[in-house]
Amino acid sequence: MTQHNIINGEALETLKGIEAGTIDLVVTDPPYLCNYQDRDGRKVRNDDNAAGVLGVFSELFRVLQQDSYAVVFCGWTAIDQFSKAWADAGFKVGGHLVWGKDYVSNTKHVQYRHESAWLLTKGNPQRQGKALPDLLDWTYSGNRHHPTQKAVEVIAPLIRSFSKPGDVVLDPFLGSGTTAVAAALSGRVAIGVELEAKYCELAKNRVSGAERYHAAKGERQAA
Ligand SMILES: C[S@@+](CC[C@H](N)C(=O)[O-])C[C@H]1O[C@@H](n2cnc3c(N)ncnc32)[C@H](O)[C@@H]1O
Repeated sequence: MTQHNIINGEALETLKGIEAGTIDLVVTDPPYLCNYQDRDGRKVRNDDNAAGVLGVFSELFRVLQQDSYAVVFCGWTAIDQFSKAWADAGFKVGGHLVWGKDYVSNTKHVQYRHESAWLLTKGNPQRQGKALPDLLDWTYSGNRHHPTQKAVEVIAPLIRSFSKPGDVVLDPFLGSGTTAVAAALSGRVAIGVELEAKYCELAKNRVSGAERYHAAKGERQAA
């Protein structure tokens, strides 16, 4: 039986049922509040609804253990609203991560060629090992499963840098399950919440595959 927990539900309501201080790391890619639509017309739930996204941060702060990190992907368009929600929840900003893309995803006043995430802190977490550079190379996921799917290669280094093997990693906006897949492949325990049943099912399947792969790798190394 899987040790990971993928929940089809609403993030704020689901987090209220999690005990305070029991999560070691949050890695999440919330709706950016930019009303995104891809070339195929696919949209992201709550990308036009700040109330369905920003209220989650105070609960994330509560469920995180003292002296821990949250990595939150975010675009620049609604950064004022996100910054206020993070500060109101009690988070401090501990770093800003930028991934350079080798393609243009949109063009308005400038070409859009980067992705970014904010490293938030609760209390005073201590870095483990070598510091992650704040300028990183982007890997395109292909968006096969989800219109804003992140690549496992982008998420896994974050999990490995900001948590330890066996830690519990939470993503309240799980989408197709990338954070949970990266957590399972890294020997962490994943908790993911996703509003849309179809993405939740996809996430469960992807995590089962990752779990089997990780277990088989452990057996090969032990042999
Ligand atoms: C930007 S996408 C995450 C994509 C993910 N990183 C991936 O690789 O597939 C955000 C996800 O949050 C979900 N979502 C939006 N509001 C939510 C809420 N209040 N509770 C739970 N999930 C929500 C959306 O359905 C969407 O799948």
